[in-house]
Amino acid sequence: MGDLIFSIITIFSILLLFPLLLHLLLKNSNPNPNPPSPPALPILGHLHLLKHPIHRALAHLSDLHGPILLLRFGSRRVLLVSSYSGADECFTINDITFANRPCLLSGKHLGCNHQSLLWAPYGPHWRNLRRIATVELLSTHRLLSSSHLRSDEVLSLVETLHRDYSGSGFHLTELKTKFFGLAYNVVMRMIANKKYYGEVDESSSEAGKEFRDIVKETFLVGGASNSADFLPVLRWLGVGGYEKRLKRLRKRRDEFFQLLIDEHRANRECGSLGVESSPAGRSTVIDLLLSMQDVDPEYYNDDMIKGFIAQLLIAGTDTSATTMEWAMSLLLNNPQTLKKLIAELDANIKQGSLLQETDLPKLPYLDAVIKETLRMYPVGPLLEPHESSQDCTVGGFHVPSGTILLVNAWKIHRDPELWEEPNKFIPERFLRRSDEEINEGLKMMAFGLGRRRCPGEGLAMRVVALVVGTLVQCFEWERIGAEEIDMSEGRGLTLPKGKPLEVLYKPRGDMA
Ligand code: HEM
Repeated sequence: MGDLIFSIITIFSILLLFPLLLHLLLKNSNPNPNPPSPPALPILGHLHLLKHPIHRALAHLSDLHGPILLLRFGSRRVLLVSSYSGADECFTINDITFANRPCLLSGKHLGCNHQSLLWAPYGPHWRNLRRIATVELLSTHRLLSSSHLRSDEVLSLVETLHRDYSGSGFHLTELKTKFFGLAYNVVMRMIANKKYYGEVDESSSEAGKEFRDIVKETFLVGGASNSADFLPVLRWLGVGGYEKRLKRLRKRRDEFFQLLIDEHRANRECGSLGVESSPAGRSTVIDLLLSMQDVDPEYYNDDMIKGFIAQLLIAGTDTSATTMEWAMSLLLNNPQTLKKLIAELDANIKQGSLLQETDLPKLPYLDAVIKETLRMYPVGPLLEPHESSQDCTVGGFHVPSGTILLVNAWKIHRDPELWEEPNKFIPERFLRRSDEEINEGLKMMAFGLGRRRCPGEGLAMRVVALVVGTLVQCFEWERIGAEEIDMSEGRGLTLPKGKPLEVLYKPRGDMA
């Protein structure tokens, strides 16, 4: 009996002391106040508020409580920033402080134990990966020398649409799958000189489908909103099977990319690339990494190479394809904008010739259409999560070291203080009209800000503009009925469209 009373007293003491300990742990000894925080539940904190789509749920919270908020996801502190000035402060004066990524389960299992480009902590290893990605793949120089690959893929898309066209009137098509295949072939050919979608053999097509599944699953399970990351008890008990799902995905991904590396290794040993000729006659990024492996096998091991190429392919494929799909949907719902875009293309591209990347600087309206699409539908609505490596101040509030940072770019892009009629599609806002409006584009942060800003921005802007411009140049587009295209958002990290875009098209006069 005495034992029972003792146990009850102990349990009660722990329950009573827990909030006090938590309060002491989170107590701010800094002269700056803590950011405001909405009411939280014990243990869960604010996790219960993370309803899909999460950027909208978080936008609602900031409407209620302010643009800089302190949230608690389980035991982790999270700074939610929903204003341009707050984001700017995080990525200018506090840029190095927030250049880290938090340790999350997706970074552990899909980011090679936090060693891949996206998940690596800020430091020499991350700098090295970022340098390789930029210098070998994404620099302006590399983009110029690989432009023929992109033209080739866009031409393939046009040919496919022509082939599928039945002769007269308008023909129905679904675009997302085609956009995904194109974006994937573009990055894959730049990395490995290999094409998976389109006119290729069956095994390559199968591999393309497998990759699509891998990407879909990656964007469903990634991100900073999984309870298992913040409530270790869920992990230990295996509730929801989240970690199992990540491990299964990692296995599939490893197998997929190992095959690619082995193929390149075998080709190197035979002394040939064994694939279509490489851009500008150089070896591929995988060949380059394998030659680095010869010199430093421990650092450039197969896992590191797999993580590196997986990250670039996954980061570069669905993002670009989804943006193309939103752009076409917006154009179909805004016929006046579509008309203006056709006029710009017809006025600047010689009759009978296809749009090329070198034409893009002459097409400011096309550029504005893509920017306005990214403003309204940024495919990374919360950017990627960052983490502070030391104490700092944001908006006058104290932010301790080890705080996860979420920036709601989607909310900032629809802030009426920054944008006139923010819920309307008005590409004209991105056209340079007068000197003071030149900075308009700077408030757009679809590619992030600061040193962890997306390194693929140059590539993405080229591919998306080239595809959308070419489709508008070569075909007439119509909605299936009088009803507007449904613009609701689906579930997933990259702001997918809820309903895949289905449209009617027919070849345009001369271009046929
Ligand atoms: C429309 C297309 C794209 C959009 C909207 C986009 C957006 C973003 C965003 C918001 C981030 C996170 C920035 C941050 O942490 O604050 C990011 C990171 C990244 N993106 Fe992109 N991206 C696109 C296309 C691409 C492409 C084509 C590639 C490469 C082939 C790429 C490679 C990466 C990589 C490697 C990172 C991680 C950078 C790091 O942590 O240092 N992205 N992107």
